[in-house]
Amino acid sequence: MSTNEKKVAVFRKEHFNAAHRLFNPAWDDQKNAEVFGKCSNPHYHGHNYELVVQVTGTPDPATGYVMDMKVLSKITAEEVIERFDHKNLNLDTEFFQKLNPTAENIVIVIYNLLRTRIDAKLELKVRLHETERNFVEYPA
Ligand code: NI
Repeated sequence: MSTNEKKVAVFRKEHFNAAHRLFNPAWDDQKNAEVFGKCSNPHYHGHNYELVVQVTGTPDPATGYVMDMKVLSKITAEEVIERFDHKNLNLDTEFFQKLNPTAENIVIVIYNLLRTRIDAKLELKVRLHETERNFVEYPA
């Protein structure tokens, strides 16, 4: 195997703050409170989300890059940070009007937004930390 066939994963960390409420409209407030606890507080609550974008591919022979991190940073800012930072995910974004903004659903939305902007020959994986101890990754 030559050098340029070796896959390397590159990672870009970003951060955004957002509010949300976990809520299933098919259930009454009591059932929502039972299932989602404090995360179903009707007046919303915030998280400091940490986002890790992972791009995997073989380094380009000309640049030595899997992907230019300046470009990855710009794409992430445009597709994710500008959309979600300091927003109420339920009320201020088009994505979670009907979709419950769990970390699981948020990470899938973010993946789909980024996937359209990253070369199809590169693999993409997204990790989202909702708290220090809780995080999700997509695709699993
Ligand atoms: Ni929450």
